[in-house]
Amino acid sequence: MTRLSILCLLLSAHCPLPTAHCRAAEPLKREAPKYETRKEFDRDGINKFYMGRQIAHVMGFQASGWLERPERVKEEEPEKLIKALDLKPGMVVADVGAGSGYHCFLMSPIVGEKGKVIASDIQQQMLDLVAAKAKKQKVTNIETVKGTTADPKLPEAGVDLILMVDVYHEFEFPFEMAAKMVDALKPGGRLVFVEFRLEDEKVPIKLVHKMSERQVIKEMGAFPELEHTNTVKTLPWQHVVVFTKKDAKK
Ligand SMILES: C[S@@+](CC[C@H](N)C(=O)[O-])C[C@H]1O[C@@H](n2cnc3c(N)ncnc32)[C@H](O)[C@@H]1O
Repeated sequence: MTRLSILCLLLSAHCPLPTAHCRAAEPLKREAPKYETRKEFDRDGINKFYMGRQIAHVMGFQASGWLERPERVKEEEPEKLIKALDLKPGMVVADVGAGSGYHCFLMSPIVGEKGKVIASDIQQQMLDLVAAKAKKQKVTNIETVKGTTADPKLPEAGVDLILMVDVYHEFEFPFEMAAKMVDALKPGGRLVFVEFRLEDEKVPIKLVHKMSERQVIKEMGAFPELEHTNTVKTLPWQHVVVFTKKDAKK
């Protein structure tokens, strides 16, 4: 770092020098969220719209049995999803909106004892299911964390990968949640959206519980720290839209 850039950093907003050095020291700007309500809306949603998309109702813990249904293996091919994530031993991964922990228990043996799976959810009843299952199976690398509707409570710059399976479309505050998740990623870390494909009318899921790849990319456009690096399209009902946090030092 040059002396001039150090000076610019110290003076921050008051820096009088209109040089590229000063501009480089400014934090990347995120666009503020605009939420709206409409007269006409789908009753499966909460009448709150973000970037043209209506937000869905949160799936209650009473329906957790649906998350553990045996048919899920055929409908979603979760092993194929986990393989596509290319996890490594020692990684810290977060399952945000973990529900009953279906994917936590698939990721846990891969990251191993040197790694960790953080299960974050807003419903304590879901987290209790995860904790009970971990105890029963003697799994020690899954940690449960109670988030809020606007904050998953993850460690800042401490996570290698954040997974959200059938979750993001339910966030009441998608911008605020995404902002916290971007902050929680290490440089080079990945933010992974697994959503039912809106583009495919054969996928038998309610409309507001589906999302198009285009919409996910549009919403993440609010975060200049992120780069869309991949979309996996080989699952039966879902697509996996992957963003990578740019390394600010590179
Ligand atoms: C459809 S379930 C999916 C659960 C799990 N990912 C799975 O695929 O089995 C959605 C979950 O997201 C959670 N959720 C909704 N809004 C959330 C938020 N803002 N932060 C964390 N979890 C949230 C719900 O409580 C629910 O457990």
